[in-house]
Amino acid sequence: MNSHSSAPHLRIFPDEQQAAVFAATVIESRIRARAAEGKFAVLGLATGQTPLAVYRELVRRHRTNGLSFQNVITFNLDEYCGLPPEHPQSYRFFMERELFSQIDIAPEHTHIPDGMGTAAEHAVRCRKYEAAIRAAGGIDLQILGIGRTGHIGFNEPPAGPETRTRCVELNALTLADNARFFGAEESVPRQAVTMGVGTILEAKEILLLAFGEKKADVVARALQETPAEECPASWLQQHPRCTWLVDAAAGAKLAEENFSQ
Ligand code: PGA
Repeated sequence: MNSHSSAPHLRIFPDEQQAAVFAATVIESRIRARAAEGKFAVLGLATGQTPLAVYRELVRRHRTNGLSFQNVITFNLDEYCGLPPEHPQSYRFFMERELFSQIDIAPEHTHIPDGMGTAAEHAVRCRKYEAAIRAAGGIDLQILGIGRTGHIGFNEPPAGPETRTRCVELNALTLADNARFFGAEESVPRQAVTMGVGTILEAKEILLLAFGEKKADVVARALQETPAEECPASWLQQHPRCTWLVDAAAGAKLAEENFSQ
């Protein structure tokens, strides 16, 4: 058995699509449960390749199953510094294109860190971002991907569980991994604003998704090594309600018998 008292739950799916459908089902049930109480559901959202199939499935359910986002408030994990919202590689642009423009969420209920401005402005805005999450009642359900550096959000190593929303330098491996979206590595912004590991750990429930063999090593490290700043995702072992949804390739290096399904 895993030695951690709150062992992360792990589900290994045959493929990414089945994991995405599972994640969408959890998200839908949390939204509908809150709606039945006349309350808002607060979702923490991620960008990158990983959550795309989840967003496609949510859009499909909105169009065909009557899933409404009118009672949803969202907070995204991160944003590149120096990219305005209308930049095609900004995470605001990504979220509008992949999700927000296709569902019935109120624009004023969507929050993404602001990557523009000076260091002093970032410091003020980062505190306000944390305050806005608290004012919304905290994040009910956080969706996460994981970078090959072990980052969640853009919390590159080293990052501990006390870190809050702030401006960070991106790791060289992350710059290389994200160069595909920018055409060239030199064009990838060097800094980003990200929720902290501590901010993420305060979510009431977390779903981490990881797909493909490129993620197999980091998934094994994050789940099986003692939590440490060198692998920020490893702190998720200390979260009481974190479920890892991986495909067979990303789960290939796990000792599966160590985890509850
Ligand atoms: P990806 O990024 O989904 O594009 O692989 C994940 C991450 O960096 O968190």
